[in-house]
Amino acid sequence: MKLEIDQQRLLSEIETLAAFSDAEPPAVTRIVFTPTDLKARAWVISRCEEAGLTVRQDAIGNIFARWNGADPAAPAVGTGSHIDAIPNAGKYDGVVGVLGGLEAIRALRRSGFRPKNSLELLVFATEEPTRFGIGCLGSRLLSGTLSAEVAGRLKDRDGESMDEVRRKAGLSGDLQDVKLPKGYYKGFVELHIEQGPLLERARTSLGIVRSIAAPASLRIAIEGAGGHAGGVLMPDRKDALCAAAELILEVENAARSSGAADTVATVGVCEVFPGAVNSIPSRVGMTLDIRDTDQARRDGVMQTIERAEQNISAKRQVSIQSELLNADAPADCAPEVRAALADSCHEHGFQFLEMVSRAYHDSLFLSRIAPTGMLFIPCRNGYSHRPDEYAAPEDIARGAIVLAESLAKLSALS
Ligand code: GLV
Ligand code: MN
Ligand code: MN
Repeated sequence: MKLEIDQQRLLSEIETLAAFSDAEPPAVTRIVFTPTDLKARAWVISRCEEAGLTVRQDAIGNIFARWNGADPAAPAVGTGSHIDAIPNAGKYDGVVGVLGGLEAIRALRRSGFRPKNSLELLVFATEEPTRFGIGCLGSRLLSGTLSAEVAGRLKDRDGESMDEVRRKAGLSGDLQDVKLPKGYYKGFVELHIEQGPLLERARTSLGIVRSIAAPASLRIAIEGAGGHAGGVLMPDRKDALCAAAELILEVENAARSSGAADTVATVGVCEVFPGAVNSIPSRVGMTLDIRDTDQARRDGVMQTIERAEQNISAKRQVSIQSELLNADAPADCAPEVRAALADSCHEHGFQFLEMVSRAYHDSLFLSRIAPTGMLFIPCRNGYSHRPDEYAAPEDIARGAIVLAESLAKLSALS
């Protein structure tokens, strides 16, 4: 089997996909099921069909593109990632795993390889939490981690429910049917940029993921009392933004003092009402994102933050309500998938690091129903979720070739 990645074509496809964006280049904004995202999804489907794959979509918009194996009834070997992008993002997050996965399958087809188990590219819907407040909706439903009822009722910022949004996107069908049957996948591999600096620092081009950290997120609403910025004296204030400021520093402190560098916590949204220079903030809406490789330690930090909320609320006479959006368990990658990735690296003489994914991915949920692994490539300075996110062409091609070899190993030769 002679495998060759068409690097030029892959890079040009990454550029083409980046042009489906609601932000000025180099930034990419592609919020799920917006007109721009729908155009990007149609383009990806056309690429898959052009590659000779059979495409279907499920009710939440996960796209499956399949190359039937010699034994089409046997569990498939899957690969894929996502193409939705947060506001002001880069070109590579998720995209490398989708277009790199497609190119890996095309390379296998060109090489004359015949898979025994079908090979399937999976483009997960709604990986980013931007629109519905919770990430990985496609893979949560595929794995049965989230119920169809709860998913259908989720609302976006404009108050539109997931059911309304997906029907407008042309997705009919019942969310109940998204869950995959047991044994659907024999193995699954996601190629992704690292979104951290460790590979670059170690001057190593590939990372094989050992485990994926446990994410949690909350929505916090602080309600104080508004009023005239000149008229209300300081002792009489119940400023919601001051309470938020204190809470944000408590969040930082709780993560910093957890005792482990693996604990991270972020307040990424802070909306102030009414937002006028001469008006005391009466209301603040915030989001909180907390992650750790150790679930118990993460939960301990969440409890510390909860106590801080109670103290601040009592001290400042404001109400603080927090709503838990998700608190997921971490995942271990499957030994057989890690071994396939490591063997492929060894065969090419490629060095790799074994590492933890601190970002979450659809693989976190796929791992609940299938042996799953992840392959990382470096991104410059570890930058991700920003417009200057960058992965070098040779790293992308190296990732795609190791992915292709690993898919071939997992889909035993006929
Ligand atoms: C995924 O985008 C994450 O926030 O880890
Ligand atoms: Mn992302
Ligand atoms: Mn991603």
